[in-house]
Amino acid sequence: MDRFGLTTNNITYLVMGDAMNYWKFFPAEEPWGHMPVWGFGDVVASEAEGVPEGTRVFGYFPSASQLVVRPDRASETDFVDATPHRQELAAAYNRYLRTDGNDMYEEENEDYEILLWPLYFTSFLIDDFLDDEGMFGAGTAVLSSASSRTSSALAYLLHQREGVEVIGLTSPRNVEFTESLGVYDKVVPYDELDSLEREPAVYVDMSGNAKVRSAVHGHYQDELQHSASVGITHREDLGGGSELAGPDPVFFFAPARLQKRNEDWGAAGVNQRLADAWRPYVEWLGGWLRVEHGSGPEDLERIYRDMLGGRSDPAVGHVLSPGD
Ligand SMILES: NC(=O)c1ccc[n+]([C@@H]2O[C@H](COP(=O)([O-])OP(=O)(O)OC[C@H]3O[C@@H](n4cnc5c(N)ncnc54)[C@H](OP(=O)(O)O)[C@@H]3O)[C@@H](O)[C@H]2O)c1
Repeated sequence: MDRFGLTTNNITYLVMGDAMNYWKFFPAEEPWGHMPVWGFGDVVASEAEGVPEGTRVFGYFPSASQLVVRPDRASETDFVDATPHRQELAAAYNRYLRTDGNDMYEEENEDYEILLWPLYFTSFLIDDFLDDEGMFGAGTAVLSSASSRTSSALAYLLHQREGVEVIGLTSPRNVEFTESLGVYDKVVPYDELDSLEREPAVYVDMSGNAKVRSAVHGHYQDELQHSASVGITHREDLGGGSELAGPDPVFFFAPARLQKRNEDWGAAGVNQRLADAWRPYVEWLGGWLRVEHGSGPEDLERIYRDMLGGRSDPAVGHVLSPGD
C-alpha cells in the first residue's frame, strides 16, 4: 500500500473500534491495534487466480505498507478478501476495486479518491435515503460538523435538490470556511442555533455532540421530522439522547444502506449512479481542497495528533505514504 488518506473518519474507526469491530479488520498483538485507512496498493506477489501481479487496487488497509489478502470472487473490476476473520465484518470494507476495471478511476485523482470516496459514498447514500423518504415531509436539512468532508459532500448533493434548504452548523472558527464552500444556504455557529426559523426539518448529525443534538431537538421540537446519527467528530462531547424533544435519533450506517441499494438496483446500478455523481463532485473539490502529502510514522503521528486535538484545517486533505 503506497498512499492513504487521514480524516476524522479514521479516528472514529478507533473510537468505535470495540463497539463496531473496527479493531478486528487487521488484528494486531495486544496492546496494539491497526488503524484502518483507505488507500491504494499494488499487488506485488500473487498466487490467486484472476488477480495478477501489478494490479493496482483501492480499498481498506491497515496503516502499514503490506497486507496479505485471500482474494475471492475475483473479476475484472474487483475482488473480495475472504480471509476468515473478516467474514463476520461489514462486507463494504472487504472489497478491493481494481483501477484498470473501474470507470471512475483517474490516476490524477487518486488523492481525491483516497480522501473523499468513502465519505462521499456515505453522503450519496444519505442524500438518496432522504430523497427516498420525501425528506420526511421537511424542506430543511440541518447538518452538524458542517465543515467536515462528509457533511459538505452531503450539502453539495442536497443543494442540487429543488425545494431543499441546507443549513450548516459548525464551530465559530470554521464558519467562514464553511460559508466559502457555497453549498449551504445558511451557516450558523453552534451557539446561535436559536436564530434559525422553526420549520419542518431533518437533522443529520455528523458531530455526535450531545449538547448540540439536544439543542437542535429542543429548538425544532415537533417540527423535527427525522434525526439521523451519522458521525462523532466531537468525540469528547458524546452522550445519550435521553429526554430529547421530537423523534428518536436513528443511526445511519452507510454499509447497511448500500446493501439495500445493491438489492434494489444491483451492484452495477449502484456503481453507475455513484460514478455519474462523482465526476462533477471532484471538479467542485478541485476548487477548494488543498492536498498535502506526508510520509512515514512521524508525519502520521503529527497529523493524527492535530486531528485528535481539533486543530486541523478543514480545507486541507492529508495523503500519506507508509514510508520505508
Ligand atoms: N455512519 C457512517 O456510515 C459513516 C460513514 C462515513 C463517515 N462517518 C462519520 O462522519 C464523521 C465525519 O468524518 P470526516 O472524515 O468527513 O471528518 P473531517 O472532514 O475530518 O471533519 C473535520 C471537522 O470535524 C470537526 N472536528 C474534527 N475533530 C474535532 C475535534 N477534535 N474537536 C471538535 N471538532 C472536531 C470539525 O468540524 P466542526 O467545527 O464543523 O464541528 C472539523 O472541521 C466521522 O465521525 C465519520 O466517522 C460515518
